[in-house]
Amino acid sequence: MLSRYILPQAAVVDPDLTLSMPPKVTAASGLDALIHACESYTSLGATPLTEVFSLRAVELIAGAIRAAVWRGSDRKARADISLGSYLAGVAIANAGTTAVHALAYPLGGKYRIPHGVSNALMFPYVMEWNIPADMEKFARLAQAVREDVDGLPLREAARRFLRGIESIIEDVGVPRTLDEVGIDRGELPALVEGAARQQRLLRNNPRSLSKEDMAAIYAKAWR
Ligand SMILES: [Fe+2]
Repeated sequence: MLSRYILPQAAVVDPDLTLSMPPKVTAASGLDALIHACESYTSLGATPLTEVFSLRAVELIAGAIRAAVWRGSDRKARADISLGSYLAGVAIANAGTTAVHALAYPLGGKYRIPHGVSNALMFPYVMEWNIPADMEKFARLAQAVREDVDGLPLREAARRFLRGIESIIEDVGVPRTLDEVGIDRGELPALVEGAARQQRLLRNNPRSLSKEDMAAIYAKAWR
């Protein structure tokens, strides 16, 4: 259970305070916020109220993250990301995150990979696993990340979400594979054990995961 003391009673969200953030930090923290939005939207803990916050957060962050990273003085982009990260924060506080964060935690804890980068490494593969469990929601997310899904069958529309997030991850320049962040394939059993301990998050995931499933997802991230 999460302590209530980890949740702030008030937050000062001032986009001007982010203007001096370098591209790497903007990319990692912006992707973390985008992942909060996508995970809370598809969490089993989502409600009609959190879904509104999550979807708007996805739209804002997906629309602004490239500009915020590569044109850091763009105040509109900084404002959109800041509002999006706030909305996504409200959404995860109520709906929870899911298996992306569960599989990312061992990467951050043991191997000191920045939180946003570790989540981005797991993001496409966990979402690919989750898509069959809720194709309507993933098709809606595909639209929110600005993929054209008009006229597509539901399954193809849902899978367009992967194309949308992979293009964002590529464009903002974070590491794409576990090799790039120096994690040896021999670490796989330890990663799976670490992720399996995150039951608080895994029970929100729209599709259940065995340890074998987690191992298969990590294996994709070494490609
Ligand atoms: Fe996070």
